[in-house]
Amino acid sequence: MLNLKFIEPMTDKTKDLNEKIALAKLGGGKTRIDSQHGKGKLTARERLHLLLDENSFEEIGMFVTHRSAEFGLDREKYLGDGVITGFGTMQGRLVYVFAQDFTVFGGSLSEAHAEKICRIMDLAMKNGAPVIGLNDSGGARIQEGVVSLGGYADIFYRNTLASGVIPQLSAVMGPCAGGAVYSPAITDFILMVENTSYMFVTGPNVVKTVTHEEVTSEELGGASTHSSKSGVAHFSCSNGVECIEYLKKLLSYIPQNCEELPPSVDYQSGGDEKRPALNNLIPENSNQPYDIRDVIGQVADEDSFFEVHKNFAENIVIGFARLAGKSIGIVANQPACLAGVLDINCSVKAARFVRFCDAFNIPLLVFEDVPGFLPGTDQEWKGIIANGAKLLYAFCEATVPRITVITRKAYGGAYDVMNSKHIGADMNYAWPTAEIAVMGAKGAAEIIFKKEISEASDPVQKLKEKEDAYISHFANPYRAAERGYVDEVIMPEDTRIKLIRAFEMLQNKVDKLPRKKHGNIPL
Ligand code: HXC
Repeated sequence: MLNLKFIEPMTDKTKDLNEKIALAKLGGGKTRIDSQHGKGKLTARERLHLLLDENSFEEIGMFVTHRSAEFGLDREKYLGDGVITGFGTMQGRLVYVFAQDFTVFGGSLSEAHAEKICRIMDLAMKNGAPVIGLNDSGGARIQEGVVSLGGYADIFYRNTLASGVIPQLSAVMGPCAGGAVYSPAITDFILMVENTSYMFVTGPNVVKTVTHEEVTSEELGGASTHSSKSGVAHFSCSNGVECIEYLKKLLSYIPQNCEELPPSVDYQSGGDEKRPALNNLIPENSNQPYDIRDVIGQVADEDSFFEVHKNFAENIVIGFARLAGKSIGIVANQPACLAGVLDINCSVKAARFVRFCDAFNIPLLVFEDVPGFLPGTDQEWKGIIANGAKLLYAFCEATVPRITVITRKAYGGAYDVMNSKHIGADMNYAWPTAEIAVMGAKGAAEIIFKKEISEASDPVQKLKEKEDAYISHFANPYRAAERGYVDEVIMPEDTRIKLIRAFEMLQNKVDKLPRKKHGNIPL
């Protein structure tokens, strides 16, 4: 016979649990959820719902509350304490996630809130899977004081230990102020949402007091500022939904951890990999610009190029793509912007990308068309030497398969820096349009034939003569090919097939750096 007395209390307990779960899911309550929606923002749970595969989310720490009693906090507790943490799958792959809930104390970070984030970071490290953070927070929980600051530091420490071990992606979907910005800054990629997110060390009010500048939050640290001016954000998304889509796309090129290879997609060769459009892409006049994205679009698998840092330092183009279904990282000088010259911002942008790809076993493809480093006091005084060296250093220490294609100019130190074979590139191809020399013909002729030109009856004509001689001698890929610095001069239309074969040939590459604690990159 059924023992009803036994079932009754169990039913109460399950009811109690269900009520607690429902309460936790309500976060800071309906009014605050409405207010979040009113600002055009999704709630933390809505974001996770969009991010993760259906029914894959397993929450950890749903009933955690803060332990503070100061300033009346003992009378105000919310289950979960302003952050939802757990694990789930994205396109079938395990990921660890945290999503700050702005409806609970403005998503501010308490001791308990920080512990929840640290817990999933520790699990992610031990189990070798990415951490994705959805940030939306008023910063340190002001009522908790130093305990909250300690919580931040615990996260920063783990971000640093996890760097290069597991991918860490940060979506900034609301405020992110004060020292809180440094957790996203240590992670691999930052995505921001236009008009609803901002990041700054000190807000507009402090800025006004200290520097007397009048500036809005958006101007100071909005998505467009950080994706174009400062370079802090890698992606600027028009809304929360697009931001989640970008996270998914980004992850599709990246492996689970530093021991694994990136995921690949099935690829069926259409048979003909020739791309005749490439034969006519370089203008007759070598000072005319063209868009390097046209080259990338022809060479990479159709629609596979995913540009990173699109609006920052546009004289270099970086991003992920697939070649015959396999993930690669592309670094390409952009002749359509400042003639593709290397300056401080583009060196730093590319260096960090090269290091990310190398840390996570993503082969590197470089398209080179570079007239050199940008001259001038502005660049010299701001440290083009140390900053340019970052890119040089990043390529030198990269051990993933590395291939360069010189489409046109490879001048001066920039020839060395842009993944030359001398610094460890595995293969170097050049198009017939390549010009590989110490410097441009005019400058070279002026220096080496200075006396002859000044003594000539027609110095202008003499300079032109010498310039032409220099061009016919050096403005081609054959001097470098004679030395083996260029492995093969190829027809542009064959670039894709050459690269597919070369990366296939390199797929089992093993290369190691000398034993060391760590290098000392010129930061
Ligand atoms: C506790 C906070 C909070 C915080 C917001 N709230 N920030 N509670 N600690 N840091 C609470 C509010 O009291 C409010 O509670 C709710 O969150 C929503 O805040 P509002 O101000 O109503 O929202 P909004 O107008 O959208 O403005 C959001 C905001 C603003 C811009 C983030 O709240 C703000 O300026 N907050 C303080 C930011 C700050 O200075 N943080 C400390 C930075 S220093 P109710 O109950 O009304 O819903 C820092 C150091 C970290 O973080 C160092 C690490 C090394």
